[in-house]
Amino acid sequence: MIVAIDGPAGAGKSTIAKITAQKMGFLYIDTGAMYRALTLKVLESKVDIHNSQRIIELALITSIDLVNEPDGTLKVFLDGRDVSSAIRQPFITKVVSDIAKIKEVREVMVKLQRRMGKTRDSILDGRDIGTVVFPDADKKFFIDANPEERVKRRHKELIGLGQDVSRDDVKADLTNRDKIDTTREVAPLKKADDAIYIDTTDLSINQVVNKVMGYLR
Ligand code: DC
Repeated sequence: MIVAIDGPAGAGKSTIAKITAQKMGFLYIDTGAMYRALTLKVLESKVDIHNSQRIIELALITSIDLVNEPDGTLKVFLDGRDVSSAIRQPFITKVVSDIAKIKEVREVMVKLQRRMGKTRDSILDGRDIGTVVFPDADKKFFIDANPEERVKRRHKELIGLGQDVSRDDVKADLTNRDKIDTTREVAPLKKADDAIYIDTTDLSINQVVNKVMGYLR
């Protein structure tokens, strides 16, 4: 079974996907983490983020692995190195959408995501899972929340990770990424026609998980 969860940043997708995957015994595939890992490689390689050709070349020789730990956490490996924390740093978040809008980069990632998803029952979260990666997914969800609530949640999450960010910084980042992710030419963030829309603004994590699980059962 393939479950697709799409939606904008800060709506709670990954939290919901991770918990649901653990409860169902499914593989959790965080596709945003894959774009983040490649972004880390681009920056560490000192490649100009506007040099699409070099970025595409890098994407083709990069190995990205996702490992679901028994306790439900996800480990992200870039060329064999654990980068699970490194990819959450603000300097990655700031430019990841610019890397993710490159068509050939997306082709490489989509291929990898399909390969991972076909190995067993999986829940994938991202922006284009229900529209592009798995248009035939068994169940599709579009997880949303109003912008103010998304800023609040992302701010809390980053503070929890020990990052010294202001709410204004988070707001600017979300606004910028929403714009790039929804207006890019290739696979823009969009609700699939057959996706179930869930507005999580006034719902707790448990309530959303229960809703999703209800549809899956
Ligand atoms: O979910 P996230 O915030 O970790 O994703 C980081 C960025 O990666 C997001 O701003 C857009 C991009 N992304 C994408 O273009 N397609 C996906 N399927 C997942 C993420």
